[in-house]
Amino acid sequence: PDENGIDGWLRYAPLSSELASQFKRYGNIIALRNDESSPVRTAAKEIQHGLKRILNQEANIGHDLITGSQVEGPATIVIGTVNSFSHAGGDVSHIAQLKEDGFWLHGDDYDNVQILGQNERGALYGAFAFLMLLAQGKQCPSAHVSNPSAPIRWVNQWDNLDGSIERGYAGPSIFFRDMVVQDDLTRVSQYARLMASVGLNGIIVNNVNSHHDLLSPRNLAGLGRIANAMRPWGVRIGVALFFDTPKILGGLSTSDPLDPGVIAFWDKITAQLYQHVPDLIGYLIKANSEGQPGPLTYGRTLADGANMFADALKRHGAGVVVYRAFVYNHHLDESNWKNDRANAAVEYFKDMDSLFEDNVLVQIKYGPIDFQVREPTSPLFAHLRKTPTIIEFQVAQEYLGQQSHVCYLPPLWKTILDFDLRVDGKPSLVRDIVSGERFGWNQSGYAAVVNVGSDSTWLGSHLAMSNLYAYGRYTWDPTSNEVDVIQDWTRLTFSSHSTVVDTVTSISMESWPTYENYTGNLGIQTLCEITKTCHYGPRPDAADGNGWGQWTRADAHAIGMDRTVATGTGYAGQYPVEVAEKFEKVKTTPDDLLLWFHHVPYTHKLKSGKTVIQHFYDAHYEGAANAQTFAPRWKAIQGLIDDSRFQHVLFRLVYQAGHAIVWRDSINEFYKAKCSIPDEQGRVGNY
Ligand code: GCU
Repeated sequence: PDENGIDGWLRYAPLSSELASQFKRYGNIIALRNDESSPVRTAAKEIQHGLKRILNQEANIGHDLITGSQVEGPATIVIGTVNSFSHAGGDVSHIAQLKEDGFWLHGDDYDNVQILGQNERGALYGAFAFLMLLAQGKQCPSAHVSNPSAPIRWVNQWDNLDGSIERGYAGPSIFFRDMVVQDDLTRVSQYARLMASVGLNGIIVNNVNSHHDLLSPRNLAGLGRIANAMRPWGVRIGVALFFDTPKILGGLSTSDPLDPGVIAFWDKITAQLYQHVPDLIGYLIKANSEGQPGPLTYGRTLADGANMFADALKRHGAGVVVYRAFVYNHHLDESNWKNDRANAAVEYFKDMDSLFEDNVLVQIKYGPIDFQVREPTSPLFAHLRKTPTIIEFQVAQEYLGQQSHVCYLPPLWKTILDFDLRVDGKPSLVRDIVSGERFGWNQSGYAAVVNVGSDSTWLGSHLAMSNLYAYGRYTWDPTSNEVDVIQDWTRLTFSSHSTVVDTVTSISMESWPTYENYTGNLGIQTLCEITKTCHYGPRPDAADGNGWGQWTRADAHAIGMDRTVATGTGYAGQYPVEVAEKFEKVKTTPDDLLLWFHHVPYTHKLKSGKTVIQHFYDAHYEGAANAQTFAPRWKAIQGLIDDSRFQHVLFRLVYQAGHAIVWRDSINEFYKAKCSIPDEQGRVGNY
């Protein structure tokens, strides 16, 4: 049994003999394709492995379809694409139309199973769906059709060539070491397996703060090996590029995107890359952001920069350019009350909508600042209508406890995905924009910074893995229920015992509100250390007094950013009119985003009836108090799961309890000292 976490939620723990006896014997697996790199072949082998583990059954893999139902003897599982099934003589007339990557899963009256994908990836996703039901003791459904919400369901790794990982909390890279691609890519295949099991189909393998050495001849070949390791799992790779590579690696005098030499340079690199990775998904570009060079450095537009890469990709293959909207000036002058980093993305991109090539997408962080504990939806989603977009989430909990605090993220993601931007006065849920439905795109979707490392837990904490699993589930179906998702994950990862499921569910569901309570409330942001690179632990004074623009504008009397059109930075006006009107006024701004949009006195009364400052005090006490309960509650499952994972999680929950108190007192003391308003309950400053 996997007690170190490598298999994540794909442990396939044996069912109890009582449950197992309810399943038929599966004797044959028919894989309608058998090449080495085919996801159909992978699916067949995964099912063979799963049956052995879950039901202790040995099944054979064959390749010839026996038409008609197997009535007697062991049941048969057929895996392939709808087309290959039809070519082999199977009847497909009853199968509903599938979308790209979708699948049909069907158990007949004799327990024979059909797993048919719209493409080969779809067949693999269907196989995992079948296995994950089986592992929970659930029967295969009949005539079940499943389609993903969006075609792009990718992860971004922020791995550096030297093996370190930016915002990585689980040891060194599984991809790179000593400036080259690793020789042993076993963990890379294992990662692709986890990704595929929840429908994730692409990965950018290196940091957005990219290094020119990625494109050395040795690394180009290495990227080919990474692609080969992931391809059998239906995962395609792409790379993040450093804009100044022509100058630094190519020895050119410029990296100007309109310069013929620069164009020729990228053309050559792209041709070489396609030789090693013929199914490259494309390029991810971080430019003119946080000191990085970009087209603006050379007096060109963002579209000029993106289109240069887009043209190179078009000449050689089918890849796309994903241009990040995270473009901003980190030397902003705080003394000017009109300045606002949150305004940057819309200001830079709103007039670019019709200027990008048709293989350019814009990748937008969910909020306008930077993965904070609470942010409003980025208004840029309402401005790009021709240019398809990708929403960027973070599974790596950079501002959310860095995997040392438990923080189950779907409830946060839902505040964004379910938000209605009311573009042109019509329903415009963010999830319908990124699915492509709202503006009629055929390439758009999701990215998440994941940052798995070589630790056997992948993310540094067993509980954090629920976010990777959930991320896949949400990209497939953003209307998923967050409780169902954590319960499925818990049964697959730990146990179906009701105490285990209830404990993990309740801790997980409380975790984000708890974390928000003891970190930053009412939309003031996480309030962690941001001036040093760690972004960890309380430091409420770090937000102000520097050019990073994550300001709180807290003084002795008032706090919050005035982002109104009337008196503030104008940010509220970047939303479509119905939303803009709501955020423009204190009265109609929800309490949880009050300080994001408004500068108010500490004595301002919230809708709850409390003052802002008393809310801060109370929330910090409540959050920290709840964090004290996690470890004792976790202890209820001792003996119901293996001791190794039990202790690993317990250690973190005990640490979190202590750190939550550090958070509580640091923040409360800081604001009490600032505003001199005592805590009504006399707790703050009274030790
Ligand atoms: C955050 C993060 C950086 C990262 C940047 C980005 O600011 O702290 O490490 O490079 O986001 O998304 O590009």
